[in-house]
Amino acid sequence: MRRKLVAGNWKMHGSRADNGPLIEAILAAPNLETVDCVVCPPFVYLAELARALRGAAVKLGAQNVGAEAQGAYTGEVSAAMLKDVGCQYVIVGHSERRGLYGEDDVLVARKFAAAQSRGLLPILCVGELLAEREAGRTHELVGRQLEAVVALTGIGSFARAVVAYEPVWAIGTGRTASPQQAQDVHAFIRQRLAERDAKIAADLQILYGGSVKAGNARELFLQADVDGGLIGGASLKAEEFLSIVAAARG
Ligand code: PGA
Repeated sequence: MRRKLVAGNWKMHGSRADNGPLIEAILAAPNLETVDCVVCPPFVYLAELARALRGAAVKLGAQNVGAEAQGAYTGEVSAAMLKDVGCQYVIVGHSERRGLYGEDDVLVARKFAAAQSRGLLPILCVGELLAEREAGRTHELVGRQLEAVVALTGIGSFARAVVAYEPVWAIGTGRTASPQQAQDVHAFIRQRLAERDAKIAADLQILYGGSVKAGNARELFLQADVDGGLIGGASLKAEEFLSIVAAARG
């Protein structure tokens, strides 16, 4: 039985004044340890939040990582640095990184490898654009994004990773994939990886992301291959985020 995982992607939101009360409210909730619960704030807040989360059931993740180990890469943050300040997870290949900052499949795969080389668990985001879905190319696109990582790091690396299916047309739009649409792609992802290693595919946590809210989380999480969510906007309000965590608990 796979554990459910709920990760909050704060994106470029937050402030020291806002983060403290948000984390305090999350930590005050009962039974947090019954699901894997992660918060992913902007880089600059990681160290401070790591202190707030010390010994707590909530884990810390970053939203991005440099592909290189160290050196003259102005503005980049390495996997070793993320580990150093207390991260356990890192999101790689978010569609905003792919779409707005030109990260291609190969770079995303290198970031996935960099994260794992320092013992971080990558949350690998995959997902299609609306035009790609309408053209019936969803499986082709998602398959290609997965294959790029398998090609670089091997199927074995998925034993230490999380995949998040995030249809780009559902992110921040209020337009959620239907539970059936999500299940279809999640099953495809698991099947594609199972062709390489059935055990690793069966154990892999596959999250859904894209306008998940307290009101739709339960139905999504009831799907056989949906193991939780990557939550954007709704992760910025403690009550909403905790309702989603409660939905994951079943
Ligand atoms: P959203 O974002 O929940 O605001 O749609 C999800 C994500 O981008 O991870």
